[in-house]
Amino acid sequence: MQKQVAPGITRIGLQAWDERVFDALIALPYGTSYNAYLVQGGEKTALIDTARMGFETELLGQVSALTPLAELDYLVMNHAEPDHTSAIPQVLAAAPRARLLLTQPGRAAVQALYQVEDDRITVVKEGDTVDLGGKSLRFVDAPFLHWPETMFTYCPEEAVLFSCDFMGSHIAADLPFADQVGGIVLPEAKRYYAQIMMPFARPAARAMDKIAALDPKPRLIAPSHGPPHRRPEVILQAYEQWVRGPLLPKIVVAYISMWSSTATLAQEVADAASAEGVEVIPRNLQVADLSHVACDLVDASALVVGSPTVLGGPHPAVAQAMTLIKAIRPRLKLAAAFGSYGWSGGAVKAIGDMAKAAGMETVDTLEVKGRPHEADLAAARALGRRVAQAVLSATKGQ
Ligand code: FEO
Repeated sequence: MQKQVAPGITRIGLQAWDERVFDALIALPYGTSYNAYLVQGGEKTALIDTARMGFETELLGQVSALTPLAELDYLVMNHAEPDHTSAIPQVLAAAPRARLLLTQPGRAAVQALYQVEDDRITVVKEGDTVDLGGKSLRFVDAPFLHWPETMFTYCPEEAVLFSCDFMGSHIAADLPFADQVGGIVLPEAKRYYAQIMMPFARPAARAMDKIAALDPKPRLIAPSHGPPHRRPEVILQAYEQWVRGPLLPKIVVAYISMWSSTATLAQEVADAASAEGVEVIPRNLQVADLSHVACDLVDASALVVGSPTVLGGPHPAVAQAMTLIKAIRPRLKLAAAFGSYGWSGGAVKAIGDMAKAAGMETVDTLEVKGRPHEADLAAARALGRRVAQAVLSATKGQ
């Protein structure tokens, strides 16, 4: 699908309607898209990013329908991950005069991945520009968004920011702009942010400052996944909240249960916390998609984890969730743990250790032998209240 998104700028959106998992990790309920952009100036032409493996032929066909590949002057590599670079060898072969523009760390990455000859490469740095004739491209370092070599590319004449993964979403859609795709864009952009960008919140904050300083202000933010944003203030405001806005009075209760005892405790914890006036999101890890748990944690203030003890430790589903949570680095600092055990405890302490390793302070724990009796249920309610009060105290006046 090719759509002109600004004068002389065409989105080549390669739609993966049926793709259901990304990075062997992230569910794709709406598929995804891999966006390259062709920028045609009065004198020169540049292709920004390419595509993932399997889309090489489609990409070349779509570009050559717009301009002869032999006349392509530049191929800009904003980011080296193969979902945007797999077609680099084919494009360079078909476009013999094209220079590959990338950052210094990008050079090492592309040579490791594709063994591109050094004489095809031009390294660019922050503030460098290339003139296309009536249009130019300016390069903006954006390290770690999402790999160390990443940069953004800005076309000031059309006020279009090519932001690569940043502000993207996993959505396949034939409609060219985010506001036409509708209500799924922000939730999917947030779920994308949670797993791809949240581990790099500081670089993301620096990038937000750089975007705010662009002159002129961007009129279009064109990411490499999902539809471009022609109302950039919508995605910019959302990112501002996710990256460094106040945490919300919200608690995620993530649990799993084998014989319903831990589930019973989870219900008591959740009901008691909710009664204190905080939002509670229960996530049963037996069925929950971890990308949704990650999304909850973008702006939640506390994580409460429940697990039975399985062979001396937490249930493997809880261990897997805690491994992911540690990796994606949510900003919250408050945690609690609870669970039931049959003949040996240990899960609750292990969860506390995992929470500490993830930078959280455990404010309360509860471990129950066997089925919870009234005193245990009361203790679970007390735990829910204590966590809620800690959250209300932490978020007061934000
Ligand atoms: Fe869409 Fe980090 O690649």
